[in-house]
Formats: sequence, structure tokens, C-alpha cells
Amino acid sequence: MSALPKEVKIVEVGPRDGLQNEPEQIPTELKLAFIGRLAESGLREIEATSFVHPKAIPQLADAVDVAGKLPPAEGVTYSALVPNQKGLDRALASGIRRIAVFTAASDSFTQKNINMTVDESLATFAPVVKAALAAGLSVRGYVSTSFVCPYEGDISKDRVLGVSTQLLDMGIDEVAVSDTIGAAAPTDVFETVGHLLKSIPPGKLALHLHDTYGTALANVLAGLQLGITTFDSSAGGLGGCPYAPGAAGNLATEDLVYMLERMG
Ligand code: COA
Ligand code: ZN
Repeated sequence: MSALPKEVKIVEVGPRDGLQNEPEQIPTELKLAFIGRLAESGLREIEATSFVHPKAIPQLADAVDVAGKLPPAEGVTYSALVPNQKGLDRALASGIRRIAVFTAASDSFTQKNINMTVDESLATFAPVVKAALAAGLSVRGYVSTSFVCPYEGDISKDRVLGVSTQLLDMGIDEVAVSDTIGAAAPTDVFETVGHLLKSIPPGKLALHLHDTYGTALANVLAGLQLGITTFDSSAGGLGGCPYAPGAAGNLATEDLVYMLERMG
């Protein structure tokens, strides 16, 4: 265990991945209070909202309002999802400084989620990422369904590598390799993330895990053993994706923090 990383970065995704899945509309002020308390708890990177179509995710229709009123907190980076140019326009109007583009390793998922094939999504992102970087924003990229797709089943590690490489070539600083439906086991992490690490440095990869079958912390340990130092989690384990049947809660931030602190 001595070879494990000494420090990790946690990306708190509760206000986005968590709240996008809540059945009820949560008032903007309550979201901002939640985000403020996450920042006070010591979290340093918080995904605050999502500039997607309000009909696709009505829970986050107040994205410009939320992003425009984020509680100032020393050393905290806020980010938000952006699916296209319209999303970037809204992000820029809100003043947020970090965005995340999101595609997947399977066409059937991106078709349902963002109404594009994977290739179409990459073609859509290229100018968006360029414009965001030119405006001084930083950009992360998600590759959803990196292990298992709810429509296509097991996903090839070469497919994940191909999409990740194309995103990194656009100039994004981090790929979130995502177990969207929480179906991966540690063997999948070793296999797929191990494959990515043959050509991508560990500092450019994050693991985004859901805990559908209780495998998320085991997958974190596999990631740590591979040298991964960035993990996404959601306070209280809130979360899921309305376009991914079977997607249960995210890895809970408090469980992740407990395990990592206990491990030193
Ligand atoms: N924000 C707000 N409105 C948007 C938008 C955005 N990011 N992108 C497009 N629109 C509007 C367009 O202006 C257009 O409006 P109009 O009909 O009044 O002219 C309309 O939506 C259709 O635009 P189009 O580009 O054809 O989008 P689409 O219908 O193919 O939807 C997405 C594509 C990506 C916008 C939509 O599927 C989406 O928001 N998906 C997000 C799903 C998600 O967040 N999943 C969970 C996260 S993993
Ligand atoms: Zn997720």
C-alpha cells in the first residue's frame, strides 16, 4: 500500500449530478445554501449546475441564476456542464470559470442524452472548447458509459481511449472516466483505466463513480492503485441520470472522505 498517492482531489458533483435527479424542484436559494455549505466543509472543486436544455433537465433550469450567485469562497473552483455553443453562451453570461463538456463511449447513450452521436458530440465540442479556452475558462470532459452502457452493455476500452484522446487533443485538462450506471467492478477499472494510462498521464484522468451495486469504493481503491488522484463524489450519495436507466446514487462524498482519511 506504500505506493498509493499521498493526496487526492475530490470533485463534488452533488449540486449537479445529485440535484438533476431529484423529483422535486429545489428553490435556487436552497441550492446556493447547499453549495455554500459544501464549500465551507472544505471541498475545493464543486460542480454547481448544468447549462443544458431546461426541458432536458428542468431541475437545473435556473443554471444562469445559480452560477451567477455562487458564494465566493477562497480557493474553491466552481464548474458547470455545457453541451454545446448555446450552453457556453449561458455559461459565459453567468461568469463561471470552469466548464465540463460531456459525451460517452456509446452512441445509443449520447443519442438519448444529448441527441447526437459520439462523433457529432465531438464535432460540436471542438469549437466550444476552443472558444472557452480563448475566453480564459478551463475545461474538463466526461466520457459517460466508459465501462457499461445501459443500452449496449460492455464497452470496449479502445473506444474509451479513442474518445478520451480526442477530448484531450481539444485542450481540455481532465477526462472524467465515468461509470454512469455504477456497473463497474475493480477488474473493469484495472482493465479500462489501465489501458488509458498506457498513453494518458494519470493527472489527466478522473474517476466518476456511481454506487448502484456498492462497488464504488472498491473502484476507488483500484483507481488509487493505478495512480489516479481525482475522484468525483456527491454529498449524501445523491445522484443519477434521467437518461441512464438503472443509474442509482453517486459515490457518497462522506464515505470517500472517510476511507481516504483513514488510509492516510
Ligand atoms: N441551453 C438552453 N437551450 C438550448 C441549449 C442549451 N444548452 N441547447 C439548445 N437549446 C435550445 C436551442 O436554442 C433550440 O431552441 P429553439 O427551438 O427555441 O430554437 C432548441 O434548444 C433545440 O436546439 P438543438 O440544438 O436542436 O438541441 P436538441 O433538441 O438536439 O438538444 C441538447 C440537445 C444537448 C441541448 C439536449 O439534449 C440537452 O440539453 N441534453 C442534456 C441532457 C443532460 O443534461 N443529461 C444529464 C447529464 S449526463
Ligand atoms: Zn454521474
